[in-house]
Amino acid sequence: MENFLYFKELTSTNDYIKENIDSLENKTIVFADIQTKGKGRLGRQWQTPTGNISMSMLFKNQKCDISLYPLICGLSVSEVIDEVCGVNTKIKWPNDIILNNKKLCGILCESIISKNSVDVICGIGVNVNIKREDFDKSSLPYGTSLFIELQKEYDPIDISKKIATNLQEKIKVFNEFGFASLKTLYEQKLVNKGKEVQVINNKETIVCTCLGINEQGNLLCNYNNKIININSGEASVRGLYGYV
Ligand code: BTN
Repeated sequence: MENFLYFKELTSTNDYIKENIDSLENKTIVFADIQTKGKGRLGRQWQTPTGNISMSMLFKNQKCDISLYPLICGLSVSEVIDEVCGVNTKIKWPNDIILNNKKLCGILCESIISKNSVDVICGIGVNVNIKREDFDKSSLPYGTSLFIELQKEYDPIDISKKIATNLQEKIKVFNEFGFASLKTLYEQKLVNKGKEVQVINNKETIVCTCLGINEQGNLLCNYNNKIININSGEASVRGLYGYV
């Protein structure tokens, strides 16, 4: 695969792209076996010991709605894991990949906005070969890995290349035809759809029924017989009795 840069160790694959963006070509993939300062959403840390996937892909000069990239990444990863492992992963809105009700993958998309263009960095972390003991140490009871669920080791580089190929194809479809066809595929995998969920923002928690997403990737919910839109920058979602 062209433009696949492998590193034994980096602070963060997203940060590597940010720091070197001018010299990196469009669609470069940066993979690190270990990240020493992996970043999660909402300012959290992301642990990346050896044997897992930490990868970022650069899409330069993007014209489409950047808020949809995390959802397209989620769909791309979910499809590849299903194909490689023979499972049926789901997506917890906006972009966590769920296997057996636990989190297998997290996604952090960042954008660099300049006067004439927007570059998007799609950061993907998949727990591939991490063991249960390693999760307990970092107190993530709802985290899981392919190894924990399937008792089998997988090749992180092989899976990363498949994810990169699928993501590249999906972004091409998105750029050419918009989000409509991807929205249908995404909603088929949306674990929250049709369920009661808690929507949590910094002011309050409400309970409502998830109906799906709209064209902007916002979650649509029925709250006291009114349809409300939830933006992923403002709120997160949990199941009524646990993570999903
Ligand atoms: C989350 O909080 O769920 C998002 C986690 C995103 C982790 C990935 S690993 C590759 C890329 N580099 C980073 O520093 N973070 C993302």
